[in-house]
Amino acid sequence: MLFRSLIRTLSSPRSYLVKYNCLGTSFSNYRQIVPLSTTKPALKDEKVKVSFVLHDGKRIEAEGKIGDSLLDVVVNNDLNIEGFGACEGTLTCSTCHVILKKDDYERLPGEVTDEERDMLDLAYGLTDYSRLGCQIELSKDLDGLEVKVPETINDARS
Ligand code: FES
Repeated sequence: MLFRSLIRTLSSPRSYLVKYNCLGTSFSNYRQIVPLSTTKPALKDEKVKVSFVLHDGKRIEAEGKIGDSLLDVVVNNDLNIEGFGACEGTLTCSTCHVILKKDDYERLPGEVTDEERDMLDLAYGLTDYSRLGCQIELSKDLDGLEVKVPETINDARS
């Protein structure tokens, strides 16, 4: 019974897609089963919440997509953080300096590159848990991430 039902479903015209060649000629005897899927095609549309805490205690909350950098979050949400990301993520300014909580810092994936470390050395108010926002890539694990934005920025280009 189940087998007959399956055969009936598969032989239904709606279950098939007639395939055409590049000249638009139909191959009526060449059919392909249309894949049905209920899974999401990618996780990239999932949102990750991030909070930026300014030096005066003001808290700015925003969302980014998985794979976005913190700089992307600031730019895409048009956040009012003065001077943040002046070099647009080309690792030449250090204006995207943020300070993380120890636990958050330690759960960031990957190592700090030499280029980021060099730029961090020029940042104002460097701490052991400082990173450059343009180098922090959001993942689902970072949902709820909170970073402090230092009082002053130092644009290493000037
Ligand atoms: S935006 Fe310039 S170093 Fe990150």
